Amino acid sequence: MKALITGGGGFLGSHLTEAWLARGGEAVVLDDFSTGREENLDACRRDPRLRIVNGSVLDAALVGRLVGEADLVFHFAAVVGVRLVIRDPIRTLETNFVGARHVLDAGARLGKKILFASTSEVYGKAPGGAFVEDSDLVLGAPTIGRWGYACSKALAEFYAFAQAKRQGLRFVALRCFNAVGVRQIPDHGMVLPRFVRQAVAGEPLTVFGDGSQSRCFMHVADAVEATLRLANAPDAERQIVNVGNPESVTMLDLARRVIRLAGSRSTILHVDPREVYDTDFADMPSRIPDVSRLERLTGFRPRRGVEEAVREMIAGAL
Ligand SMILES: NC(=O)c1ccc[n+]([C@@H]2O[C@H](COP(=O)([O-])OP(=O)(O)OC[C@H]3O[C@@H](n4cnc5c(N)ncnc54)[C@H](O)[C@@H]3O)[C@@H](O)[C@H]2O)c1
Repeated sequence: MKALITGGGGFLGSHLTEAWLARGGEAVVLDDFSTGREENLDACRRDPRLRIVNGSVLDAALVGRLVGEADLVFHFAAVVGVRLVIRDPIRTLETNFVGARHVLDAGARLGKKILFASTSEVYGKAPGGAFVEDSDLVLGAPTIGRWGYACSKALAEFYAFAQAKRQGLRFVALRCFNAVGVRQIPDHGMVLPRFVRQAVAGEPLTVFGDGSQSRCFMHVADAVEATLRLANAPDAERQIVNVGNPESVTMLDLARRVIRLAGSRSTILHVDPREVYDTDFADMPSRIPDVSRLERLTGFRPRRGVEEAVREMIAGAL
């Protein structure tokens, strides 16, 4: 079976590509390598079942051709990371929505199933405990860059449902919650790789505010396993599914754990994120996935804790 994996040169996409090939599939990776790296695919680059296409999801003709050749599509290409999103909002909105639209349109036209990466960001500022897929989305003001990313992904979800209605598109929208592991780079604003890089370098770990805000981290291997199982779950079609690990950790606790696991002498420095990013920043106190839909559809529950990912990131120094 041949899969098209957009964004396959990135963090999640490269792990997915490796896993797909390891399970006997063929893969075509479409990536413009703007944040992805060719070396992310080093482990499988020489595999004759892998073809790497350096191009953009904004190229509708190319996307159409590659979707046509594939049996199944994983659409993971996007502009990701708070630093990038705030720096280049036009590129964020265009890549994440127009790119998704090209993929979804081709899937609808050619009858190919599309699994695409959405994000927990779409829940926005919704209050309450664990997020359930059908709950309301409460996005912030358009003056805050972060919400442009959330909106671009939410719009892709709306578009997928619209195409399902119009042309019978088969899709699964994966609402990913902070996947972590090796190959995730700190350059674009991801917290855990930043902590790991700082701890390994013996520099202070920069914690935003008092560090009481919490997040849930899913080991990348669990995220890939969940994605592949959803690809094989017929009942998952035309559904949104949370892909995350409900185990929650505060940023202060996470920083302390990284320092301990790295055997580092680093200290913790509390900083105001608005000084790091701009005044254009908003943070959420917590974000926890309800994963009962994922479990019901696939029988899968995340197994790996955040410390497993931290150890691997320290060992590989990312
Ligand atoms: N990592 C997470 O925790 C997380 C959380 C929520 C959602 N997601 C989603 O998962 C997907 C993968 O994220 P990631 O963390 O691996 O980020 P990443 O930046 O490592 O991967 C994105 C990939 O898309 C590529 N890309 C960007 N613009 C492109 C374009 N126009 N054409 C072709 N390729 C392009 C990049 O070069 C990169 O390889 C994204 O859609 C992201 O929104 C990730």
